[in-house]
Amino acid sequence: MTTWDPRRTIAAKRERQTLPPDEVERFVLAYAAGEIGDGPAAAFLMASLLNGLDAGETLAMTRAMIASGDTVRFGDVGRPTVDKHSTGGVADGVTLVFAPLAAALGLAVAKLSGRGLGHTGGTLDKLESIPGLRTDLEPDRIERQVQEVGCAVAAQSSRLVPADGALYALRDATATVPSVPLIAASVMSKKLAVASDLILLDVKAGSGAFMKEPARARDLAQACLALARGAGRPCGVAITDMSQPLGEAIGNALDVIEAVEILRGARRGLLRDLSIWFAARALEAARGAPFDEASARAAKALDDGSASERFARMIEAQGGDPRVTEDPGSILPRATVVAPLLADRAGVLGAVDAEAIGMASSSLGAGRARKGERIDPAVGIVFRPKIGDRIDVREPLGEIHARSREAAEEASARTLAALTVGEAPVEPPPLIHDWFPPEGGR
Ligand code: URA
Repeated sequence: MTTWDPRRTIAAKRERQTLPPDEVERFVLAYAAGEIGDGPAAAFLMASLLNGLDAGETLAMTRAMIASGDTVRFGDVGRPTVDKHSTGGVADGVTLVFAPLAAALGLAVAKLSGRGLGHTGGTLDKLESIPGLRTDLEPDRIERQVQEVGCAVAAQSSRLVPADGALYALRDATATVPSVPLIAASVMSKKLAVASDLILLDVKAGSGAFMKEPARARDLAQACLALARGAGRPCGVAITDMSQPLGEAIGNALDVIEAVEILRGARRGLLRDLSIWFAARALEAARGAPFDEASARAAKALDDGSASERFARMIEAQGGDPRVTEDPGSILPRATVVAPLLADRAGVLGAVDAEAIGMASSSLGAGRARKGERIDPAVGIVFRPKIGDRIDVREPLGEIHARSREAAEEASARTLAALTVGEAPVEPPPLIHDWFPPEGGR
């Protein structure tokens, strides 16, 4: 018997060969089991990013990631279970709002989320800025929490899709994130490991997304749909705009504050609009509710406090301090320096390099430059204007939350450099570029 040599797998991908499914599976499982180090795994990821993985290889990678751990199956929850996932953006706090909102609307949400990746924020990092809150929930605990509270947001763990956890962190540290098959396998392994009745995907397109062009976002949407179809799981995919930060907060604790305000009906804007849109699509697909009626119900659940009350229960169930939903400013960590972000030009905001702003926030300490690095939950950027808005010289556009004055000044300069300001009026981009409803749905 010849012994398997992972270098042959890497070399085959380097030479643009199509790997047999069992070889992809073996490589992924061996890395998850610690039999292959970060070096060869990083080489494999880079070869895959550069030379691609076809549908069979992507499916094999997804299956191996699921098989690296347990799966979550629900007994009778008494309501439809829904999962929603974003492919990653800047100021994209939709999950923080969606999970409790959908629970308040009579759905159940059990969701495995990710950490910050590249320039994008991660729901787990955001949630963990709440003192005491844990995301490393065991499968039976997720199931119990969903029965009792209606929603749970958890991490991959040593028992749940551990291979994605390991590869995800390695991709973040090795510039191997923006690849259609690698993102599709990562997202869908987490979605298929949890047996929800409906999956909703938010595939981002634009300057703050991994897919800058809507056409590439469509490729990613199709790759994810193919994996869902192969597993016989209903899945709806929206391609949504990420040509500017979706919300205003680009950090971790700052995002939680923004989500709390939206959940209490105290804040309007694109983040609220998209959260309502996904909640309404979930109600439409899972309960057959007409979309407009479902949207109105979702808006009401934000305005009457019922979504906020669910968020408090979810936080408490996961060990966090639920008072964060009443007074987030006094519970969450705060940065030592808060400096105003002042416009350096006047005119109409025509374009935003959202990735550059995400990187500026990451450099403040809100994201990781190295695998496993600790983040600073308190720091980040608040950026308020949207494309099409008029801004004036020295107008406050937001704030920089930093550890030092120098760091704040650098982040401020990087944020201002990411803006294109002109004289001509600019139409705001559409929020939803495309929608592929779940098959069999509407
Ligand atoms: N979200 C994920 O879960 N994985 C990726 O690779 C990108 C976004």
